[in-house]
Amino acid sequence: MVKVKVFDMPEDAKRPAVEAPKTDNKAFKDIVESRRSVRFFSSDPIPQSVIDDCIDSALLAPNSSNLQCWEIHHVSDSEKKSKLAECCLGQPAASTAKELFVFVTRPDLWRRNNQLMLDEFDRRGDMPESAYQYFKVITKMAYTIGWFGMLAPIKWLFFNLRGLTQPTPRGPLGKWGMKVWGHKSTALASAHFMLAMRSHGFDTCPMEGFDNVRVKKLLGLPRGADVTMVISAGKRAEGGIYGDRFRFDKSLIVKTH
Ligand SMILES: Cc1cc2nc3c(=O)[nH]c(=O)nc-3n(C[C@H](O)[C@H](O)[C@H](O)COP(=O)(O)O)c2cc1C
Repeated sequence: MVKVKVFDMPEDAKRPAVEAPKTDNKAFKDIVESRRSVRFFSSDPIPQSVIDDCIDSALLAPNSSNLQCWEIHHVSDSEKKSKLAECCLGQPAASTAKELFVFVTRPDLWRRNNQLMLDEFDRRGDMPESAYQYFKVITKMAYTIGWFGMLAPIKWLFFNLRGLTQPTPRGPLGKWGMKVWGHKSTALASAHFMLAMRSHGFDTCPMEGFDNVRVKKLLGLPRGADVTMVISAGKRAEGGIYGDRFRFDKSLIVKTH
């Protein structure tokens, strides 16, 4: 039998229990089930208060180490918006959208955000030493990749040697590893955003059919940034949804161990 090491919560991290608020699964299901990718939008505008609220919901998404290495670019300037729709290959989901948002991952900003986190701990003044240690030691070991990812082979060797005898995180390694790391969290923020739009009665379409180089140039993004997806939003027009929803049989997807 495999022995599992049980970690005790560090004494200094113990806090009083917080009661979980009551929630409404029916309301959640209504939102999840009525969200569809909409390819044609009506001319109904989205109030700014709705946009602000959806952005707030996006920013509450879970994210790796809470480093929040993401940006949301709301492209509202009409000329820039048409250029962005062009970068999205002119697809109707972009060209008919009332609003366009670009979800961008910024793994290149992890160090800045790591410091912001430590500054916040100092401001709060009651953070346990174990939390400080996480952002002073662990994140630095996990996310430092060196100039042009030069540390990647060394990290690879270290992780894999250590992994021979004990469970060891194997990444992220190098520039691409950090991009994958960033995209995971930014995709979750994107999902929050789309569900929030639906909760307000609006629709969205996530898009990866775009020219990454041109979108980055249009938004003035640096090399270290990467576009996770472009999200169009508005109210669904008649015929704006391509057919009935279809998902594969669950038996192909869900595995029980
Ligand atoms: C990462 C990602 C990229 C997508 N890219 C496009 C796209 O470029 N154009 C488009 O019309 N739909 C795009 N979609 C929408 C999918 O086609 C759609 O989610 C899928 O067909 C399921 O339909 P549903 O969203 O209505 O449930 C994308 C979805 C995701 C998650």
